[in-house]
Amino acid sequence: MRIRELQWEDFHPLVENYLALYEEVKEHPDLGISLFPHPPTVLEETEWFARVFKSAHSGSGVAVVAEENGRAVGLCDVQPKGPQETRHVGVLGIVVARGQRGRGIGRALMQGAIDRCRGKFELVELSVFENNLPARRLYESMGFRTWGTLPKGVKRNDRYINLVFMVSELK
Ligand SMILES: CC(C)(COP(=O)(O)OP(=O)(O)OC[C@H]1O[C@@H](n2cnc3c(N)ncnc32)[C@H](O)[C@@H]1OP(=O)(O)O)[C@@H](O)C(=O)NCCC(=O)NCCS
Repeated sequence: MRIRELQWEDFHPLVENYLALYEEVKEHPDLGISLFPHPPTVLEETEWFARVFKSAHSGSGVAVVAEENGRAVGLCDVQPKGPQETRHVGVLGIVVARGQRGRGIGRALMQGAIDRCRGKFELVELSVFENNLPARRLYESMGFRTWGTLPKGVKRNDRYINLVFMVSELK
């Protein structure tokens, strides 16, 4: 497994990994990542990928991929929170393909992303479902601390889940 910058050829595997979350959530309704009400279209995925790719390659954001046997199996990206006086804050997202989790890929991805955030962002923030204990444990061990909780911040079908906000100040 190696951690590297996002490349154009990662489009198909990353879209497949993302769309697979819609199957996973049917089996595991507690899956700790927020999804659109319907799987994104190819056009929406293309727009998303182009935005992340451009941000990483122009230097405004960060996007790293975990590659296993020549295929992207995980992505961690950090995007500026806003264009104006919040641009020193990066917003982090991470996902590892089902079947590849629990092998250290998430930790390596986060480390790779955070290393690339130094000099670019001063704070890195993220939000996580309160019941997503594997993710919260990972974030805490990477130096993130909880600064707030939005009660009922996620509504999945008719069920609410609290949304926990975490931040890490980069030294
Ligand atoms: C959260 C996620 C990115 C972690 O990636 P991963 O590759 O499984 O994580 P790692 O194998 O690197 O494990 C890192 C740490 O996470 C925690 N962890 C991972 N799996 C765990 C589990 N099943 N139970 C408890 N803690 C767990 C542990 O602290 C672990 O550190 P350790 O191995 O030193 O004990 C991955 O599970 C994932 O993509 N989940 C679905 C999408 C998602 O929840 N994204 C986050 C949205 S905020």
